[in-house]
Amino acid sequence: MIFLDLGLQPFANEYPKNTKDKEKKYRLLIDFNKKNGVISIKKKFQSNKIFKKDYPYRSSISKTMKESFRKLSNKIKHKFRKNKILEIGCNDGVFLKNFNRKNSLGIEPCSNIAKLSKRKGINVLTEYWTYNLSSKIKRKYGKFNIIFSANTITHIQNLDEVFKAINNILDDDGILIIQDPSLLELIKNNAYDQFYNEHIYVFSYLSLSKILDKHNLKILDLENIKDHGGSIRYYIKKNNDKNKLSTSVLKQKKLEIKNGLNKLETFIKFKKRVENSKKKFVNLLKKIKSDNKKIIGYGATAKAVTVLNYCKISSKYVDYFFDTTPEKQNKFMPGVKIPIKKYKKLKRKFVDFAFLGAWNFKEEIFFKENNYIKDKGKFISHIPFPKIIP
Ligand code: TYD
Repeated sequence: MIFLDLGLQPFANEYPKNTKDKEKKYRLLIDFNKKNGVISIKKKFQSNKIFKKDYPYRSSISKTMKESFRKLSNKIKHKFRKNKILEIGCNDGVFLKNFNRKNSLGIEPCSNIAKLSKRKGINVLTEYWTYNLSSKIKRKYGKFNIIFSANTITHIQNLDEVFKAINNILDDDGILIIQDPSLLELIKNNAYDQFYNEHIYVFSYLSLSKILDKHNLKILDLENIKDHGGSIRYYIKKNNDKNKLSTSVLKQKKLEIKNGLNKLETFIKFKKRVENSKKKFVNLLKKIKSDNKKIIGYGATAKAVTVLNYCKISSKYVDYFFDTTPEKQNKFMPGVKIPIKKYKKLKRKFVDFAFLGAWNFKEEIFFKENNYIKDKGKFISHIPFPKIIP
């Protein structure tokens, strides 16, 4: 059942080089599956249409993410004492660089990004995650006792194949750790910008546990973490009678039921909040412009692409974006074609307001821009509702 229409959208991580470049567009409709509570985008693209040789996203671009992956690596080494590790979607090696190179293997289909991992000495296969690939890996490397995947499983259309392939090479006593944005946090924050062509699914504990059931996999523990504006890290094992559920799992289950994540009406109410958010955001930008103030964007994120195209915000409102990723600089925000410039520290002389495209890194950004804030420079955030901060 479709409950939200976010309009005609370009591909989020394809940054045009020129304003006249032709872009592929699709209608971003969000669906609630009444049977299993799975939330997905209606138009689902194959991985090879999106994750190619010139993918611009680098996980190591923020200190926050580096720190989060370092801490998890320590936990895996010291608490679980597991040492043979496979990562699905290892990006630039931000996680695997913390492990012994001999016992770890990364899968990364985007060759430009895989190269960055290889430069760190990590063993990487430049491939898509499929059942065939898992069999090939099993023949060459045997099974693994940790399989990790961050912000990747939700990007792959065929979840049955994903988990069948994982089952194929996970040790019987191995741990599957996956982390992805939390549906509950998305709903609480009105973070409709978590929806774009790459985010095919947004999991809740309730929906993911149903998908895993079919594959005899069980979520035994979970943690709510701050990554990507609120994610859940799930600890999953092959189901057996000895496995015990942690209290955090039961707590999350209760919380999600209490917040109605299994009911369509929750998402219809969310849709109304999203429509209000759009009105409020457009009015806020109009008001600031009518006072002759200058607005720029901070963080040319995929999420911002959804917001700008849904709210139809062009360079009439936001002059340009700053971003630290070399692959995005001197290009344009998809769809609305706002220029992206190489990042420089914000200066009050040039900027009155900065729209937080990377709102999920607010703390890191505020720390970095403390002089701008001291000089009464302001940010705009649409999360949880459009407003000026601090
Ligand atoms: P992210 O929020 O992970 O976005 P998405 O998955 O929605 O694309 O991406 C962060 C983007 O923000 C990335 O392009 C780098 C940029 N960025 C900055 O320009 N400055 C910063 O201080 C931080 C933390 C990120």
